[in-house]
Amino acid sequence: MAVLITGTPGVGKTSVAQSLASTLGKKYVDVAKLAAENNLVKGFDPELQAYIVDTSSVRALLEEILTCNEVVDTHIVECVPKRKVTHVIVLRLNPLELKKRLEARGYPNRKIAANVEAEVLDSVLIDAVKWFGERKVFEVDTTGKSVGEIVNIVRLVLEGKGRNFKPGNVNWLENFYYLLGKT
Ligand SMILES: Nc1ncnc2c1ncn2[C@@H]1O[C@H](COP(=O)(O)OP(=O)(O)O)[C@@H](O)[C@H]1O
Ligand SMILES: [Mg+2]
Repeated sequence: MAVLITGTPGVGKTSVAQSLASTLGKKYVDVAKLAAENNLVKGFDPELQAYIVDTSSVRALLEEILTCNEVVDTHIVECVPKRKVTHVIVLRLNPLELKKRLEARGYPNRKIAANVEAEVLDSVLIDAVKWFGERKVFEVDTTGKSVGEIVNIVRLVLEGKGRNFKPGNVNWLENFYYLLGKT
């Protein structure tokens, strides 16, 4: 089975996906790298300082490449052919922590704000449920967990023990005092 590791930029997709792939003996597929290497970009968004990926071309390429034994890493779920993945894991991270990580990356303020807002509003989760259907989608709060701990949770989900990780188990808005740093 192929697994998609997704989530807002900075939540830890690449760290978790690479570790999961080596643990399970699967191939790691970095969609952003694949798009860049094959020049499947439509332009550059100056506001977000990011390349605009040609999602349908990337999807067509992944349709050819994926053999159902990969761990795929992208925040753009529409890039991934629906039938090729059995499990979609949306990594979640406390937005305050995410902000710190994106600052450490040196992202411009607008890009940090857009990504923190996307995390608060469940944007990637919603995209994932719309694209793949709720049955395949799980979300994991990674806040305060090591990469190894997160990988172990993903392995539980893959073994069919993902009941506690269905969409809706993470809700940053419910804890908005947390967002204001008043915990
Ligand atoms: N579980 C974790 N705990 C602490 N730091 C982490 C964890 N996972 C990733 N990081 C760090 O956060 C940053 C973003 O991680 P990365 O895997 O590149 O995220 P993404 O691929 O989603 O953008 C990196 O500096 C990485 O070392
Ligand atoms: Mg990454």
